[in-house]
Amino acid sequence: RDSRVARIDAAIRVIPDFPKPGILFRDVTTLLLDHQAFKDSIDIFVERYKDLKIDVVAGIEARGFIFGPPVALAIGAKFVPIRKPRKLPGEVISEEYTLEYGTDCIEMHVGAIQSGERVLIVDDLIATGGTLQAAIKLIERVGAEVVECALLVGLTDLKGHLKLGGKPVFVLVEYE
Ligand code: PRP
Ligand code: HPA
Repeated sequence: RDSRVARIDAAIRVIPDFPKPGILFRDVTTLLLDHQAFKDSIDIFVERYKDLKIDVVAGIEARGFIFGPPVALAIGAKFVPIRKPRKLPGEVISEEYTLEYGTDCIEMHVGAIQSGERVLIVDDLIATGGTLQAAIKLIERVGAEVVECALLVGLTDLKGHLKLGGKPVFVLVEYE
């Protein structure tokens, strides 16, 4: 694997029992404190996507707003935020998805992504895959193409990629 990945791995803090007992939380805020590791993570994404004619980087609230924009700037793409409900001020389209208990929803501004555009989705982590599945649906509903989903962390035990209907997923580090 890319030698830079070891440093990225080491810079991601693990916090037990957050936000609930039994959850091992992967905290990417400590990666942001390591300039080299933060830069390496962005560089790996930029190297992978710079020649793939990506029109739009779509970042998922909240941590997709940290890692998405530097990638968008470097590859010459637009950045579009995908947000939790009632945060975006303009006209939105929404997609509901199921959680362990109940449902959640993400939203995107109408007109932010055009039909036919090539989109890269960026977030910090895939767990159950529910959030990414909803984001893919939202983007495909406006006639755009999701080229790939890029994440720093994949939690393999949760098999989130199985929800994504074969959509390619690129993760820098995987944990059980
Ligand atoms: C986390 C993470 C992803 C999502 C992954 O966000 O940043 O967006 O969960 O989980 P999934 O694969 O099971 O859908 P969180 O819900 O903690 O929201 P936040 O970033 O707004 O705190
Ligand atoms: N870290 C960040 N977000 C998450 C996690 C985690 O470990 N699990 C589910 N969402």
